[in-house]
Amino acid sequence: MKEMSFVMLKPDAVLRRLSGKVISRFEERGLKIAAAKMMIITRDLAEKHYAEHSQKPFFKDLVDYITSGPVLAMVIEGEECISLIRRMVGATNPKEADLGTIRGDYAIDTGRNIIHASDSAKSAEREIALFFNDSELCSYPLPDEELVYEEP
Ligand SMILES: Nc1ncnc2c1ncn2[C@@H]1O[C@H](COP(=O)(O)OP(=O)(O)OP(=O)(O)O)[C@@H](O)[C@H]1O
Ligand SMILES: [Mg+2]
Repeated sequence: MKEMSFVMLKPDAVLRRLSGKVISRFEERGLKIAAAKMMIITRDLAEKHYAEHSQKPFFKDLVDYITSGPVLAMVIEGEECISLIRRMVGATNPKEADLGTIRGDYAIDTGRNIIHASDSAKSAEREIALFFNDSELCSYPLPDEELVYEEP
């Protein structure tokens, strides 16, 4: 089933100039970028995005971090891509993330784990609506898309 996930390269990914490397992983995997924009997000948007963590002790640090510089907000589309992207991203604590995952290869600190990805279809829908208008989502076929085998 085709899904859309909200993916955000966090400020340290952008400042460490890792954006291209991370985007390449998604492209090389066969996923499609449906929307992308560089933005410095407001505290209000950051607090809405991470609302589920508002009572956690790390919430203020998390909002400070995510608003500390530019993020690259993206919508990525593909077959069952929500769980696939989470697996590609790796564990929240990069020290526990498998090598070969994005966090396992590029991060070491939970508070600087370089990327966000939606954890469910419900989260994806909510997060995409927070960051993008419908008119910003690009619908286009990839040249190899019709070759994808649909499982029965
Ligand atoms: N124990 C913690 N200490 C400090 N920061 C934390 C801790 N747990 C989570 N965070 C921060 O809050 C973010 C959101 O936590 P969550 O549990 O949703 O993990 P995640 O889904 O892997 O990450 P994200 O939502 O950013 O994709 C984490 O990415 C991390 O930056
Ligand atoms: Mg999360």
